[in-house]
Amino acid sequence: MRLQGKVALVTGAASGFGEGIAREYAAQGAKVAVADLNLEGARRVAGEIGGVAFGGDVSRAADIEAMVKGTVEAFGGLDIVVNNAGWTYKNGDSLGVSEEEFDRVFDTNVKSVFLMARAAHPVLVARGGGSFITISSTAGLRPRPGLTWYNGTKGAVNVFTQSLAQEWARGNIRVNAVCPVMGVTGLTSAFMGMEDTPENRQRFLATIPLGRLSTPDDIANACVWLAEDSSSFITGVLLPVDGGRCA
Ligand SMILES: NC(=O)c1ccc[n+]([C@@H]2O[C@H](COP(=O)([O-])OP(=O)(O)OC[C@H]3O[C@@H](n4cnc5c(N)ncnc54)[C@H](O)[C@@H]3O)[C@@H](O)[C@H]2O)c1
Repeated sequence: MRLQGKVALVTGAASGFGEGIAREYAAQGAKVAVADLNLEGARRVAGEIGGVAFGGDVSRAADIEAMVKGTVEAFGGLDIVVNNAGWTYKNGDSLGVSEEEFDRVFDTNVKSVFLMARAAHPVLVARGGGSFITISSTAGLRPRPGLTWYNGTKGAVNVFTQSLAQEWARGNIRVNAVCPVMGVTGLTSAFMGMEDTPENRQRFLATIPLGRLSTPDDIANACVWLAEDSSSFITGVLLPVDGGRCA
């Protein structure tokens, strides 16, 4: 059990990558807080892994503060934060994106990391250190057309990650990003900009040398390593989990 005795908060954990991370963290012995806009889904996952569930919007300061406070109240501290909740508008002409969609994608993917950093830092410092993980994307390293503003959110997350890693090192808090290539989750057809059919998928598979999409297990395994003590000298990395797409 690689995370025995650790406490983790995973946002966006009612589905997709976040659910996979929460499940693997629990399987590795961590106590897990499952946070999501979708409270019913968060409760389902938390119930199945012996965790606690929080409903809330990661773009609202009060909701983030309640997630952190609630985790500490439930489990007595906090060692690992995974900033996974994210959203995108549908892939297409970037000038067709509405102002509302632009604000939502930046609030969900970028502002959330700022709010979580403010809320979680004192708690991690009090614990003597920890692991703060962002779920970024290959979109922030090797942007595809049609998702310009979404790609920009992940570029911001990458720079936040590298910059915070340097600021927080003295508190023994490591900050790392996991950058998945396209995976099969609730967001897949929005990323593709088309229905997720075998023919449409083939276009994306052709750009991934290992020839498959990412899975929640791939992302969860990277997140376990970045949270455990065996990665204690790793901070500020943007780790592609992408079958070689960015190589
Ligand atoms: N699926 C992919 O191909 C892919 C690739 C690279 C990166 N990512 C990133 O992975 C992360 C997880 O996405 P996913 O693909 O698993 O999608 P998903 O839609 O399956 O999961 C996202 C979860 O976040 C929750 N969420 C959305 N907005 C929220 C908010 N404001 N507050 C709280 N929770 C909110 C949703 O309810 C959902 O449960 C995102 O940051 C996404 O950008 C996904």
